[in-house]
Amino acid sequence: MSWYKKETFGAFWEKGYRDSSLSSMGGPSFEVAEIAPALPRGAKVLDLGCGEGRNSFFLAQRGCEVTSVDRSEAGILKLASLSDRFNLNIQTHVADIASFKIDSSYDLVMAHGVLYYLENHIWRDLLNKVKEATRPGGFNIFTVFIYNEEIPCGEEIASAHYLGSFSPNELKRFYSDWINHRFDQYVKWDSHPGMSIHVHPIEKLVAQKPLQTFSRNEIKVGNDLPRSIFDRINMGMKEYDLVQLTGNPGWVEEISFSGPQMGANKIIDESYQMSLWYFGKSMIYLVNGEVTGKSLLSMPAVHLKVQ
Ligand SMILES: C[S@@+](CC[C@H](N)C(=O)[O-])C[C@H]1O[C@@H](n2cnc3c(N)ncnc32)[C@H](O)[C@@H]1O
Repeated sequence: MSWYKKETFGAFWEKGYRDSSLSSMGGPSFEVAEIAPALPRGAKVLDLGCGEGRNSFFLAQRGCEVTSVDRSEAGILKLASLSDRFNLNIQTHVADIASFKIDSSYDLVMAHGVLYYLENHIWRDLLNKVKEATRPGGFNIFTVFIYNEEIPCGEEIASAHYLGSFSPNELKRFYSDWINHRFDQYVKWDSHPGMSIHVHPIEKLVAQKPLQTFSRNEIKVGNDLPRSIFDRINMGMKEYDLVQLTGNPGWVEEISFSGPQMGANKIIDESYQMSLWYFGKSMIYLVNGEVTGKSLLSMPAVHLKVQ
């Protein structure tokens, strides 16, 4: 009878977590060590399904403020005692990650070897919350076992309620709106103290939330102004006179602010409204209803909106 029939994979790590002389999962994962230098000073980190906390421990030692969650009490007790012993900033929680309340924002959220224990719709809900709670420029790092008919997960994983809830490339698609720094697919022959060698088909993702995301739309600018009319548009011209000369624009973009602003060649005390009038490749700038500039565009007109 093979070892996994005697005890499940879950029982294996529970046993390791209770042994204070063991590091059952080894040192930090290499991709965590790889991106650690990119984290800001005192970065806030959330480690979901941290186990006994090899990644949490590594990052806390580098000065990160870490929140570590696992449903294994033994794993969390081991990490909390290491945190006390080395005076680290680690908040530990015994909890199910599926219902753990994420009420802060983070520079890094990671889950190594955990998410495939959640059903597909549950990890999707969780990762939507995680994406939301990640600061712009922050990272998400995940390692999952995927469902792969050619190289199925070993029985030891099945025995620990592995759900096969990731199909190949699904995680990558879920993060298609982020910057993808690493997406690895491989099969790993793995070992841990007290466990025989076993095989996992793996995907690993390191993604970064874009600093600012914009929707970028090309504007339908209508017909061009004849050059003879464009040349007759003068600075300081009032909106009423402009429209008599040009007719209505094909498109107008408007930005307005309250309070004092600098503009239209003076300090404007009251509200400020800038309008851009588009006529094909001609664009006229108006500030509070007066022409302050005009351009001939040599590229399509675009509008950016912060998302
Ligand atoms: C293979 S271990 C990985 C531990 C750690 N992330 C690491 O890389 O060393 C899987 C861990 O996931 C935890 N786990 C699995 N499902 C969980 C859930 N729904 N909520 C919290 N922890 C969970 C287990 O208790 C176990 O510690």
